[in-house]
Amino acid sequence: MIILAIETSCDETALSIIQTNDTNTNFKVLSDLVISQIDIHAEYGGVFPALAKREHTKNLIPLLKKASLETAEKTTQVRIDLDVEKEKQIEEILRREPELAKSLLDFIQKNNLPKIDLIMVTHGPGLAPALWVGVNFARALSVACNCNILPVNHMEGHITSIILKDDYRENLEALYPLPDFKFPLISLLISGGHTQIILVKDWCNYEILGETIDDAAGEAFDKVARMLGYSYPGGPHISKHAKNGKENDEIQLPRPMLHSKDYRFSFSGLKTAARYLIENLKETEKLDEQTTADICREFEHAVTEVLIKKTMNAIHEHEARGLIIAGGVSANTFIKESFTKKLAAHDLPLYLPEKHMCGDNSLMIATAGFINLIKNKKPLEAGSDFSAIGNLKL
Ligand code: KG4
Ligand code: ZN
Repeated sequence: MIILAIETSCDETALSIIQTNDTNTNFKVLSDLVISQIDIHAEYGGVFPALAKREHTKNLIPLLKKASLETAEKTTQVRIDLDVEKEKQIEEILRREPELAKSLLDFIQKNNLPKIDLIMVTHGPGLAPALWVGVNFARALSVACNCNILPVNHMEGHITSIILKDDYRENLEALYPLPDFKFPLISLLISGGHTQIILVKDWCNYEILGETIDDAAGEAFDKVARMLGYSYPGGPHISKHAKNGKENDEIQLPRPMLHSKDYRFSFSGLKTAARYLIENLKETEKLDEQTTADICREFEHAVTEVLIKKTMNAIHEHEARGLIIAGGVSANTFIKESFTKKLAAHDLPLYLPEKHMCGDNSLMIATAGFINLIKNKKPLEAGSDFSAIGNLKL
């Protein structure tokens, strides 16, 4: 089965093509593409939904074209002959993105496509205008290809991204067996929009144990980075400068909710404490390069300490057999190293996404969709109506 996966929930437009084996118990990656809008949003210090929508609208056809070319030799190619009724249906589905309808119809007329058996698409959570472009595009394409369509949860995508092995990029044709997990697992999801501790009872069976009551961990990284003059996304800047940071008695930040006996987080107070600290240092002209690095280090330590404490509590309470860390912030070296040490001390496995898969991508949508298929979730018929849901729950 040839499966096309689409992700447009935030500031990455991503599209990939995978091929499952004859029994649909495994798959290989045929094409994996992403266009990042980071440079476009950097000016605004964060993601601007209307801009994200515009960029997704522009990017989807070039990605489909490139993926079609990349897979031309590995798949059966078809030239789709659309009748007037189907053309009308596509235009109706994409009535809010008329330029996308036009370029899709134009593309189909002039190009061969791989014979797609199923389309998977993120339908939430994320920025609603951005999600809608992906959902409508996927529905329209399913009409053209006359194939089923499967809506996928973005957060489940982050969690399941860990089933792909580290060498998937160098070795795109290799097969990726599901590791022999032992459930239950705890999953710590840390991204720009979410900070959640999830009990994974089995694939497709999740319970959110707790989440942030205000800012997400990634959001806190981005905001503190901005105060220090770094561009969006701030996480990688903080991480880089923290490496030069030293312990400094004058640079102290709180560990919010460290001792609250639940799995909730709060990062807004930490952000405010960082703001006062930075303003003070600026006023007294003490904010030099070393002090900036010390702040990055202290901030990273504060976030990590809280994440570790709550996550370990959850692991112990639920007698979890391992930990999955996923989401954009899971790219952070210090967080990764700290958890690696902690889990090793408890003799428990730690599952992390391959480094290219920490941020948003469409392969993770393929992994989540694939696992849903294995768990017997039924896809919808071509063109079926379903919504993008900004605050979709797991
Ligand atoms: O999962 P993701 O790509 O998008 C969302 O769904 O939100 O996560 C993006 C977040 C941003 O806040 C970014 O600053 C953060 O992940 N991030 C990092 C690092 N790399 C990305 N945070 C800390 N350290 C990093 N190395
Ligand atoms: Zn994400």
